[in-house]
Amino acid sequence: MAYHGHKLLEEHILKSEDLEGKTIIEVGSVREYLEGQNSTGFFMDLCMKHNMKLISVDMDPDCSANVHKEAEKRKFKNYEAITMKGEDYLKNIEIFDYLYLDGFDYHHDWHSDVRKEKYKNILNTEITNEGSWRSHLDMVEAVHKKGREHSLICIDDVFSPVKGKGCTAIPFLLQNGWECLENNYNAAIFSNQSPP
Ligand SMILES: C[S@@+](CC[C@H](N)C(=O)[O-])C[C@H]1O[C@@H](n2cnc3c(N)ncnc32)[C@H](O)[C@@H]1O
Repeated sequence: MAYHGHKLLEEHILKSEDLEGKTIIEVGSVREYLEGQNSTGFFMDLCMKHNMKLISVDMDPDCSANVHKEAEKRKFKNYEAITMKGEDYLKNIEIFDYLYLDGFDYHHDWHSDVRKEKYKNILNTEITNEGSWRSHLDMVEAVHKKGREHSLICIDDVFSPVKGKGCTAIPFLLQNGWECLENNYNAAIFSNQSPP
């Protein structure tokens, strides 16, 4: 199975013994059922096991509808599905436990026309690397001072310093009190070195 970063975040969350009542925020809800994806369902299973909450944020109402479907399948109640840009949502939170960033796609040649239309209709933009980098940078800028001691940030689709979603967000985190714990599953995970 070619896992994505949700597996990496889970592995690091499970190192803590004190999970009850904690919240996972994911930006980028389940869009399609591709092998190794569906972070939303994956996090719901984790939350159900450990009495945690999931907040799933996506700019696309169809993806938020998928969150409700995943919850319904499991009879999972401790969640919120929020249709909003991740940048806007994260500006307005005060503190977070675990954050999974898998939002604005990076550019590649296989994005479907339906997907490209969503970006045009909802965000009035094309799918570009610059858009992906800006969005993920804006999100980490919004939260880098809002972590607690145990907080983790995981960015998915991290392939190299110049390819993927983290090209500008990762240097920002490293210069602002966050340490890279591990790169795996084409993702990178960071812990908070300067909690309040
Ligand atoms: C790669 S998909 C997420 C896949 C999902 N995490 C999974 O594992 O199935 C990226 C998602 O980010 C959403 N997105 C793109 N830009 C966004 C933004 N600025 N804020 C919130 N969501 C965004 C898209 O609508 C899309 O559903």
